[in-house]
Order: sequence, then C-alpha cells, then structure tokens
Amino acid sequence: MNPLTLSVLKRIEAEGAENDNRESEHARKWLNLEPETGSLLSLLLKLSRVHNVLEIGTSTGYSTICIASVLQEHGGRVTTIERDSVKQAKAKTNIAEAGLSDHVDWKLGEATEIVAALSGPYDCVFFDADRISAPAQLDLLLPKLSRPALLLADNALSHPDQIRDYLRRVDELPGVAHTVIPIGKGLSVAYLP
Ligand SMILES: C[S@@+](CC[C@H](N)C(=O)[O-])C[C@H]1O[C@@H](n2cnc3c(N)ncnc32)[C@H](O)[C@@H]1O
Repeated sequence: MNPLTLSVLKRIEAEGAENDNRESEHARKWLNLEPETGSLLSLLLKLSRVHNVLEIGTSTGYSTICIASVLQEHGGRVTTIERDSVKQAKAKTNIAEAGLSDHVDWKLGEATEIVAALSGPYDCVFFDADRISAPAQLDLLLPKLSRPALLLADNALSHPDQIRDYLRRVDELPGVAHTVIPIGKGLSVAYLP
C-alpha cells in the first residue's frame, strides 16, 4: 500500500475512534473495519485478483480504500452502496484524498433496492451493512456473479444472531468453500467455483 493511502487510512482510524466514542446514536457511528480486517481484505483481493467488486456498506470509505487501492494496482472498479448521504460525502472526500476516485462508483440509498437494479457482473461482494438483509441481497446477486467469485462478510462473530441466515445461505451454495476467520469482528470468506 502506498504511503498516501496508508496516511489516509490512519487518519480515518483516528477520526473514526473519536467519532464513535462521542456519538451515542448508532446510525451516526462510522463503524469502520478494524485495521487488521482491512489488511486481510486487501490481501484476499490481491491474491484472488478480482476486478469487479461490490461493497454493501460504505460508511466513510475505510474499507472502500482498502479495496480500491488493490484495484488501482490490478485494474478494476468497486461499486459501493451507502444510505447515509453525510457518510457517503465523507467517503468521497477520503477516496479523493487517497487518489482512488477513478476506481469507485457511488450508490446512495437502500442496499436491497439498489442491488436489485444493478446489472453486474461482480467477481467479489463485500457485505458490511445490515446483516438481516444480506441473505436477500445474496439471492439477488447470485445471477449477477461471474465465476469464480469471492463473497466476504464482516461481523460474522460479533453479531451471530443477525448474520446466522446469511452464513447458512452461503453454506448451501453448490461447491462453495467457506470459513469464518477470527479477525476483528469475524470475517466470513467464501469461494464460489
Ligand atoms: C459497518 S458500517 C460500514 C463500514 C465500512 N465498510 C468501513 O469499513 O468503513 C455499515 C454502513 O452500512 C450502512 N447501511 C446499513 N444498512 C444499510 C442498508 N440497508 N442500505 C444501505 N446502507 C446501509 C450504514 O449507514 C453504515 O454506514
């Protein structure tokens, strides 16, 4: 990762910690990925050489930067969905500061509605928004995935009740290889042949 990208990530980490300690309202927290999960996310994308990524849950763009920095090296784009316009505006500023705007497409609104309208194809989806809607979003996305495809989801260990249906749905997919890595809040990693 280049020094500019790293410095933007470090700034978001510090500002995110300060914001999330100060804000009592959940919707106003940024809830950025843990740094170690961000590093693993970048590493997985590098190894799998994906090019067309869909991210559900932008917040202020921490994970978007982890994704787009890899796509800048390999070629590719990430489409990222957020329903909060204030967070999306911050994400746009952060991505621009990291010099990654050419690799990001922005969507504002309810993720399930947006997912239904997207045409794809995607070779990687990162689920990091509302876990209850993730199984329905996965079903909508299955016909829009190229193969092989990588499916990633955060909070696999921190919110077991909310993510249970998504994890079960992934396990049901034919030929899937799936594990949960105990890093940060728990990262579900699935490979679809
Ligand atoms: C955990 S945060 C994402 C953190 C981000 N991936 C990062 O690492 O910086 C989840 C975000 O998803 C958004 N979100 C939650 N449910 C959503 C939905 N149904 N549609 C669109 N956005 C949603 C929230 O507003 C919040 O900003």
